[in-house]
Amino acid sequence: MSGHGDLVLVDKRDDGVAIVRLNRPEALNALSLPVRQGLATAFSSLHDDETVRCIVLRGDEKAFAAGADLKDMAQMKMTDMIRRRSERYWNTVASTPQPVIAAVTGFALGGGLELAMMCDIIVVGEEAQLGQPEIRVGIIPGAGGTQRLPRAVGKYMAMKMCLTGKPITGREAFAAGLASECVPDDQVFETAEKMATTIARMPPFSAMAIKEAINQGASASLEAGLALERKALHTMFATEDKQEGMEAFIEKRRPDFQGK
Ligand code: CAA
Repeated sequence: MSGHGDLVLVDKRDDGVAIVRLNRPEALNALSLPVRQGLATAFSSLHDDETVRCIVLRGDEKAFAAGADLKDMAQMKMTDMIRRRSERYWNTVASTPQPVIAAVTGFALGGGLELAMMCDIIVVGEEAQLGQPEIRVGIIPGAGGTQRLPRAVGKYMAMKMCLTGKPITGREAFAAGLASECVPDDQVFETAEKMATTIARMPPFSAMAIKEAINQGASASLEAGLALERKALHTMFATEDKQEGMEAFIEKRRPDFQGK
C-alpha cells in the first residue's frame, strides 16, 4: 500500500488489480486540490505499470466522494478557477488505458459523480446517493456532469438531476443506465474487486482496445466508430495473446494471457 500524501491510497495486488482509495473521510472525500493531485499522481503511475491490468476506484462506506471542496471553492474567483486548470488532473484519470471500475457507496455528488463517470464500469450500492447538486450552490457541473451524464441516462433524466440538484439512489441509477451493476451496499467493494480480478485475467491488449473503441466511438459517427473498431480488431492479430486464446479454445484448456 503506498500513499499520495495519504489522501489517495494505492494498493497494487499480485493478481493485476490495483485499488485506488480516496482517503479523506472527515470531509466525505471532498475533492480538494491535493486530492485531485493525488488522484492524478496515482493514476499516472498506474498508466505506466504493465503489471496493472484493471483498477478499482473507491471511497469508503459513507462516501465515494461528496464533490468539489466547497470550503475551498467559497473563496475562489473566476481567475482562480481558470488558473487551477483542474482538467489536467481529471484528464489523467479519464485517459487511463486500463479498465477502471468505480465502486460507488454512500455519496457520489457533483465532482464525485463526475469522477465515477470517468470510469468504465460503475458498481453501485442500492442506497448510494448520486447527484449533481452544483446548482444549489450557484454553479454548474464542471467535470462532465452536463456531458457524460446525458450520454449515460439521456437528456431528460440528466436535466432533472442537474436542474433540481436532487440525488437519486443507486437502485434508480442502475435503472437509468448510470451503473453497470447494483448490489447491497455491503457487497459493493467485494463485487467490484471480483469483477476486476476477472478483467485482469483477460488479455490486456483486448481490454485496452475495447475501452478505447467504446470511448472514442461514443463521440464519433457510426462509420468512423466502425472503422476504428475494425482497425483495432486487426491489430489484435499481431498479439501472442490472440494465438494463446484461440489455441486454448481448440485444445480445451484455460488460456494463460501474458500481455504480449
Ligand atoms: N466540500 C467540503 N466539505 C464537505 C463537502 C464538500 N463538498 N461535503 C461534505 N463536507 C464536509 C462537511 O462540511 C462536514 O465537515 P465538518 O464536520 O467539518 O463541518 C463533513 O464533510 C461531513 O459532512 P456533513 O456533516 O454535511 O454530513 P451529512 O451526512 O449531514 O451530509 C451531504 C452529507 C448531504 C453529502 C452534505 O455534506 C453535502 O451536501 N455536501 C455537499 C455536496 C455538494 O454540494 N457537492 C457538490 C460540490 S460542487 C462540485 O462538485 C463542483 C464541480 O463539479 C465543478
